[in-house]
Amino acid sequence: MMRLVLILMAMMVVTGMARGDDAMLIGNPAARNGISLDGEWQILIDRYNEGLTDYLGREKRVGWWGERGEIRPWELDEAVFDDSSTLTVPGDWNTQRDELFFYEGIVWYRTAFEAGGTMHGERSFLCFGGANKRATVWLNGVEVGSHEGGFTPFQFEVTDAVRVGQNVLTVRVDNTRRADGVPALKTDWWNYGGLTRSVRFVRTSRTFVRDIEFDLERSDRILARARVDGPRRSEVTVRLMIPELGVDVGGTADENGDIWFGPEPRQPIERWSPESPKLYDVEIRIGNKVEMTDRIGFRTIETDGGRVLLNGEAVVFRGVSIHEEALSRRGRATGVADARELLSLAIELGCNMVRLAHYTHNESVVRMADEMGLLVWSEIPVYWTLEYENPETLDAAKAHLREMIARDHNRASIAVWSIGNETGDGPIRTAFRMALGEEVRRLDPSRLLSAAMFARQIREGPGYGKDGSAGERLVGLMVEDPFGAMADILAINLYVGWYHDRPDEFNGAPVELAWDKPFMISEFGAGVKQGYRGEQNQRWTEEYGAWLYENTLEWSETLPNFAGMTPWILKDFLSPRRPLYGIQDWYNRKGLVSETGVKKDVFRVLQSHYRRLAETPAD
Ligand code: GCU
Repeated sequence: MMRLVLILMAMMVVTGMARGDDAMLIGNPAARNGISLDGEWQILIDRYNEGLTDYLGREKRVGWWGERGEIRPWELDEAVFDDSSTLTVPGDWNTQRDELFFYEGIVWYRTAFEAGGTMHGERSFLCFGGANKRATVWLNGVEVGSHEGGFTPFQFEVTDAVRVGQNVLTVRVDNTRRADGVPALKTDWWNYGGLTRSVRFVRTSRTFVRDIEFDLERSDRILARARVDGPRRSEVTVRLMIPELGVDVGGTADENGDIWFGPEPRQPIERWSPESPKLYDVEIRIGNKVEMTDRIGFRTIETDGGRVLLNGEAVVFRGVSIHEEALSRRGRATGVADARELLSLAIELGCNMVRLAHYTHNESVVRMADEMGLLVWSEIPVYWTLEYENPETLDAAKAHLREMIARDHNRASIAVWSIGNETGDGPIRTAFRMALGEEVRRLDPSRLLSAAMFARQIREGPGYGKDGSAGERLVGLMVEDPFGAMADILAINLYVGWYHDRPDEFNGAPVELAWDKPFMISEFGAGVKQGYRGEQNQRWTEEYGAWLYENTLEWSETLPNFAGMTPWILKDFLSPRRPLYGIQDWYNRKGLVSETGVKKDVFRVLQSHYRRLAETPAD
């Protein structure tokens, strides 16, 4: 038995299963024993940081986190949480209150819940899907932790702070942008603040299964590592059950709390793919207690020269980029219904991939991609104006990566980890990105590494410049960004015909790749005000958008090592950079559909192109 375990451990290290990462989250908290804390929370808006400091900026002895009990009539208290002012969680505050639409600052949230149960022999955790940007959490007046980063989950053990009966949970959320942040001061998306993801109170046994990681690439056996957390963990037997594969095995944790499983399935494993998104129900038990469940798909994703192979077959990404905005209302997408709406539109478009820009989307989206059969490009918000020379900024970016991968390592749909978007190059930025690339390789070498980069534009002779003056005509593109040496897929953003040149001026421009690797267009697009009709060469019209798409799609069929595209973007989205009244009205209008989901001509142009592409065998 020991020999088998050692072999398995070696196999998992080789496959990259065994991560050097100990930011292991409690896996799939939504399916764990506990209480959802989603709903109406009381709030206090705190523009001047009064919750922590007094009128002279000195730290308060008891701030807004404290339980201040009943206020007697003669006492002064100018900040009282009550039901006169609430916000819905999960949800951004910007689109719940007109006065908070542009708000950038601090909001305090408070809710109360009955923990129930006996507490004895149990452990308690608060699990947050995410909060933008910085959150500090108190339970019953006791500070239990804080988290930086607006798009990844965080969890705190509160076993010592929780009590039988009513518990008061207070969270301070600050969405102020910072120059040393990830992202920093400039983003082309709305700075949605608040408890934008679900919150759950989770109860576990004193010794419990924290998570399980699968090697999704195996076909001959099930390679998985479970981690047990708690005292005397090497005395518990953990049971892994995958009924449909006839798997029902037990194992005991080693001194690290790890259990390595390697059973042979009794049935052949059916591979996951967009065409056939097969998922297997998994159950993890200690004794007869179900510790956690998950749904796992098995597939291989790799490159072979200039091709991407899914389950050994060449695949071309018929993708679309998506921001995490709901389709049926303004604001952040939050849960299963929003995820289903967005991804159903991508399926209707003819997609087999979605690029989740430019940050980790909520867990419902990636789980829905598993279920609906969409490959995923998942990204961290290393974007534009970061302080690339700042080691703390690099650490913050690595934390995003660790938390994103710790949450989503079991998602079959995720094919690409992207370490950023349009970061520019140069030695400092390249070193920053290489360091992130190495972190991806360390955490999860089983998936493809990429980033959205720029190509070098080769120009000559007279042409149509951006400002209408004669410029030099675009005659070619050179894909040579130094990060391409490390990336598995070369991906460039390209706005020929929108930010420069005209759509019909770059046709046939050859593209040269510095490496023989798969090549994709991670962004192109045009601003269109839905329903605005006019001449083909008139900006913002439906006709202009269709003109640009038709030219770009025709050009895309000439590209070397073409691995697909994720055009910018599925839906018009809010951006503080897009004020053009009457046309943008704070929306970036490059969506294939309007902000309310009305299809534009470009949707139909791309949809018919994808229909043809789907019928063309990838070589
Ligand atoms: C950039 C960037 C996007 C932005 C888009 C645009 O390439 O990656 O975040 O929204 O172009 O300018 O519309």
